Amino acid sequence: MVQELQIGGTNRMQPQKIGVIGAGLMGHGIAYLLANAGHTVGIYDPSAEWRASLPARLKSARDLLDGDPALLGRISAHDQMAPAMKDASFVFEAAPEKLPLKQQIFAELEELTVPTTILASNSSAIPSTEIGAKLKHRERVIGTHFWNPPHLVPLVEVIQNEKTSGETVRRTMELLRDAGRKPVHVKKDIPGFVGNRLQHALKREAIALVAAGVCDADTIDEVVKNGFGARMAVLGPMEQSDLVGTDLTLDIQNVLMADLDRGTEPTKFLKDLVADGKLGMRTGEGLRKWTPQSADAVRDRLRRFLAEQAKSTQAKPAQKP
Ligand SMILES: NC(=O)c1ccc[n+]([C@@H]2O[C@H](COP(=O)([O-])OP(=O)(O)OC[C@H]3O[C@@H](n4cnc5c(N)ncnc54)[C@H](O)[C@@H]3O)[C@@H](O)[C@H]2O)c1
Repeated sequence: MVQELQIGGTNRMQPQKIGVIGAGLMGHGIAYLLANAGHTVGIYDPSAEWRASLPARLKSARDLLDGDPALLGRISAHDQMAPAMKDASFVFEAAPEKLPLKQQIFAELEELTVPTTILASNSSAIPSTEIGAKLKHRERVIGTHFWNPPHLVPLVEVIQNEKTSGETVRRTMELLRDAGRKPVHVKKDIPGFVGNRLQHALKREAIALVAAGVCDADTIDEVVKNGFGARMAVLGPMEQSDLVGTDLTLDIQNVLMADLDRGTEPTKFLKDLVADGKLGMRTGEGLRKWTPQSADAVRDRLRRFLAEQAKSTQAKPAQKP
């Protein structure tokens, strides 16, 4: 049981030692938010280039979020795994998305950590069941699916695989909640977890509507952003169904279900775009058309919006009593 500190009327977790594998896009964000919550973080990355750019990327996150000025001093980068993982009570793995590599990393982690250290993978698609398949202590292996960028998007899907213990889920949720995240417990290790399945159900219908000539891609974005998307940050689909009533939701299903797209393969429309080199913002055209300026404007708008939200949710660092 992790000790807690009583600070200003709120219980905060005692600072922990945390290991992070990979200093890339996800790893540096995970390190940032845990260090900002008062923990000491050791990051292992074999790439000198990624390690060299780490301080500037962390500083940029801290400046964007007005984070704890001292947090950079709590993060150290290493070219070897052992010193980065020393005394770690949690390890978050954010290495490239390749099963043999992740299995190798977890095998090394088993040697370097005590059996109570929680080993979490940030994989977007590979089940942690497979990543931890060869370990002796599989009850401490878990999936933690952070969303990009991890220091700006509050959700973390905490995925319990068939071997993960309830205690591992509890401790992981506690750590993430304390760091200002919104962890949710996903009880089955299924492809896409919950968030990506919901996102892709929407994309499947959106692409089908455009492919059928019902409206253009710009209109889809207008409908979502100015319609149900405008309220989604405060009203989830289940709340909304209960707000209007399950009876009305059923009436709508009676009319719509037979008409919704039910494809089971990736859509031809999307395959044709990719085959034609229309890859989106980076090629100037995808589902919509882009100039470098309009693409930058979208990125900037997103970053500012997420930063404003994140400032209010990030952890206030624990202080020593
Ligand atoms: N990018 C996203 O939007 C996103 C979202 C959720 C989850 N993920 C998952 O997070 C993980 C990392 O993705 P990313 O986008 O941060 O990738 P990235 O390419 O930005 O970073 C990967 C890092 O791992 C390092 N690395 C390479 N070999 C390594 C090894 N043997 N041991 C330790 N580190 C090694 C690289 O040097 C690099 O710094 C992947 O599993 C990915 O699927 C990514």
